[in-house]
Amino acid sequence: MALLELHSIIKQLKAKNIQLEIFQELASTNSYVKKFFGQSKIHVCLAESQTAGRGRFNRQWHSPFGQNIYLSMLYPFQKKMISLSGLSLVIAVSICQLLEERFGIHHKIDVKWPNDIMCHGKKLAGILIEAQATMPGCCDVIIGVGLNINMTENNKMTIPWTSLKKETGKDYDRNIIVASLIDKLCDDMHAFNHKGLQPFLSEFQKRDVLKGNIIQIKSNENEIQGICHGINEQGELMLELSNGEIKAFFSGDVSIKSHNQ
Ligand code: BTN
Repeated sequence: MALLELHSIIKQLKAKNIQLEIFQELASTNSYVKKFFGQSKIHVCLAESQTAGRGRFNRQWHSPFGQNIYLSMLYPFQKKMISLSGLSLVIAVSICQLLEERFGIHHKIDVKWPNDIMCHGKKLAGILIEAQATMPGCCDVIIGVGLNINMTENNKMTIPWTSLKKETGKDYDRNIIVASLIDKLCDDMHAFNHKGLQPFLSEFQKRDVLKGNIIQIKSNENEIQGICHGINEQGELMLELSNGEIKAFFSGDVSIKSHNQ
């Protein structure tokens, strides 16, 4: 099993001025990089394993040693927190494009709004975003990415999951993927900082697994069912309710109730 190597990653990186750290074990890479809030620098932290890896809604993110990528990037935005709407979609699209274009993963990789990367209905990667306002008009965002790479067995997982190895049968050098993931995220975060969600909308729409299906969204303890009409310009999920009203959601936990034939 090849481990993550700081110098190998730094040598491959195009992006400069990035602080990079690798740990054998951390509670959570997202929790760790919080200590760099307010420093106005891109800081990336990776761990070979996490003992308290976190997902959305306080779910656990299983993080066995040496098999997958557990990465957190602290990115300083010249934007207010309110303008971050759609960021998780940009990150998800960015990761899909990287896997398809750079690593030739031709299996269909989709995005389940707002932050799940899916392959044939199984979860391949998850994104956890945490933000804090810094100066007026600016905020620091922690982009946490858990990407399943060489893991083929895990009896602790409670959801349908997959990994690059399960999909392609190949073993991957995580150093190569990490270096290109950092570069891709830096490019796309720069674009999002200046242009927002708009340039990424059509790429998201190609990969939207929810559109056209009957879905259920759990938001603020309410469960609402309806037909999904994709997303609006702000990245909010559009749901047609039983009375015909279209309601927009900016966050929530979604499940598909029935697929459009
Ligand atoms: C989700 O699908 O709910 C998001 C999962 C995010 C997991 C990653 S692994 C690296 C980073 N550190 C964490 O504790 N969580 C994120």
